[in-house]
Amino acid sequence: MKIEKNVEPIKSNEFLKELSFCRNDTNSYLRKLLPQENNEVLYDAINYAIFSGGKRFRAFLVIQAAKLFEIPKIRALQAASAIETTHTYSLVHDDLPSMDNDDIRRGKPTVHIKWDEATAVLVGDALQAFAYQILSDKKTHPNSEVRLHLIKTLSEASGHNGMVLGQSKDLEAEKNVKSPQLKDIVNLQKLKTGALFRWSLGSASILAEEKNDHLKIYAEAIGLAFQIKDDLLDHEGTTEKIGKKVGKDSQAGKATLVSILGVENAKKRCLELCDEACESLNLFGKKSEMLKTAARFTIERGF
Ligand code: IPE
Ligand code: IPE
Ligand code: MG
Ligand code: MG
Ligand code: MG
Repeated sequence: MKIEKNVEPIKSNEFLKELSFCRNDTNSYLRKLLPQENNEVLYDAINYAIFSGGKRFRAFLVIQAAKLFEIPKIRALQAASAIETTHTYSLVHDDLPSMDNDDIRRGKPTVHIKWDEATAVLVGDALQAFAYQILSDKKTHPNSEVRLHLIKTLSEASGHNGMVLGQSKDLEAEKNVKSPQLKDIVNLQKLKTGALFRWSLGSASILAEEKNDHLKIYAEAIGLAFQIKDDLLDHEGTTEKIGKKVGKDSQAGKATLVSILGVENAKKRCLELCDEACESLNLFGKKSEMLKTAARFTIERGF
């Protein structure tokens, strides 16, 4: 099997500069959208959860894919903000004692540790609803059909057809009642993590009102690679670098692609997925270089 035939070595400076540029842009945009911290516990906790230092990688994907279709920046930032509030909601709930019971996220105490469980549940609820409020605004797109399409697809990607179903299967895998097979784990990872990646890339073609199957293949491949890498980081990373507790998956007896395939094969699978992702973008030519490097970042990142 040929691996990496398309993949340039990561041009780290250029890529990391662009990632940080997109992060700053998204953060400034979100600051204007979100309620101010005015001694309201809920608002303080929302701002804490959102501005605690995430990579904003999904926002980056929306913005870069939007560039392929020359979509106005403000529309891309609206979609980028919606996916990041959805993603942050999923993390706040994922960390709850009834789920992964984590006390550190992005290098800081999780919301239920800093406040309490009820506040963390409400922060998640509010951030989820806010994503749809953002998308429904005319700034997202002047055509209400396009806005509705974004809302419908995000609700599918994040709800019981997507991320939430994946999270439920993930908790089942932890109970290990039926000892899940490789295909079960791939399926759950495509749901719990892949669904939001697919929406991130798909939002650009919806905004452009243009179907694009190549971006779908790219999204599918990097979504899965991103979660395998997350599992590898849980296995081999350090809390200082990744900002969350490590070794949790094996401690919980959770089946992941790392536990099923072993570290070396999981890394090999990441390389294959990266190659697949890059190949799918060839028809975009030079314009897709940043997204190709993003595929490489997905599997090489140390955080
Ligand atoms: C962590 O996502 C959760 C997974 C789906 C693996 P990220 O690694 O993108 O988290 P942040 O937003 O950068 O903190
Ligand atoms: C969570 O996966 C994915 C979500 C949908 C939130 P993990 O449980 O592996 O994410 P981390 O490791 O806590 O960030
Ligand atoms: Mg989890
Ligand atoms: Mg977790
Ligand atoms: Mg993890």
